[in-house]
Amino acid sequence: MTDHTDNNPFLHDVLTGLAQPLPEISSKYLYDELGSMLFEAICVTPEYYVTRADLEILDNHLPEISRCIGTHAHVIEFGSGAGIKTSRLLDSLEHPTAYSPIEISAAVLEASAEHLRHQFPQLRIQPVQADYTHPISHSNLDICQDCQTRVVYFPGSTIGNFTLDQAQHFLQRIQKIISKFLPEVNGGLLIGIDLLKPLDVLIPAYADTAGVTAAFNRNLLARINRELGSDFDLDQWAHEARFNAEQQRVEMHLVSSCLQTVTLAGQQFEFSQGTSIHTENSHKYTLQGFSAMAAKAGLKLQQHWTDSNGWFATCYFVPE
Ligand code: AVI
Repeated sequence: MTDHTDNNPFLHDVLTGLAQPLPEISSKYLYDELGSMLFEAICVTPEYYVTRADLEILDNHLPEISRCIGTHAHVIEFGSGAGIKTSRLLDSLEHPTAYSPIEISAAVLEASAEHLRHQFPQLRIQPVQADYTHPISHSNLDICQDCQTRVVYFPGSTIGNFTLDQAQHFLQRIQKIISKFLPEVNGGLLIGIDLLKPLDVLIPAYADTAGVTAAFNRNLLARINRELGSDFDLDQWAHEARFNAEQQRVEMHLVSSCLQTVTLAGQQFEFSQGTSIHTENSHKYTLQGFSAMAAKAGLKLQQHWTDSNGWFATCYFVPE
């Protein structure tokens, strides 16, 4: 017997998430077209230090980062690479050979590849359309016979949005990708991690005064209304950023401001005042803690760079 959610993973995941004792919806659904635009807007709010810190590290340390990676690199990027960070990294490398962006959205992927093709006409660019949170066929990445290093680039601290288990598995998969052609081809992982810091910096970064993060979070309910035909009343849900000290993460929640019932695909979900839907985790790491997790995946920290506040680290890991 088939059910109506078989062909609609979004509907399946939302129904399953809302039925949990502590309702939750995966943060991957925050990024529809409007959500992605709102995320771009978050990145320039005064409170959201993450993007600025990541860029400051590139501003101050790009030549060293580029030396660490070495010449004739094949750069494999997890996520869309249209942004300023990718082109700056590629621009700084000595004779980069190939670039493989991995991205789930075909439109975003093609736009970013097209942009970079103009900027780097010599570079072999082969986009891979895939959900990088799932295993990726290695043959899609085996495009570079003449490269000397395979480097996975994962900026922006997106790994913080994974659970600790997911992050551990993700690092194991990366280790396999970058070790595949050892010893002929070196391997490396250039990754951004957001460091643990005082709450008076952390919480405002996820609850900016202009309300951009609140709009980003609430857009998830608007998306569910638009795409799945539910009847969330957006005015009755408040955005909240909480620090979970035990898990060392900032959590985003949508808190019900009254007793209310929401209907989705013929099912009713009741929310009492103050109950929340948990929509995102953003783990904050210490360098030691992250390095210990990477070590379990067979990766050792070769070099790292931090911003002037010591809030964010860009790390270069190599296979042990
Ligand atoms: C994409 N990711 C690294 C962001 C973060 O900081 O966890 C997502 C975000 N959520 C709210 N603000 C930013």
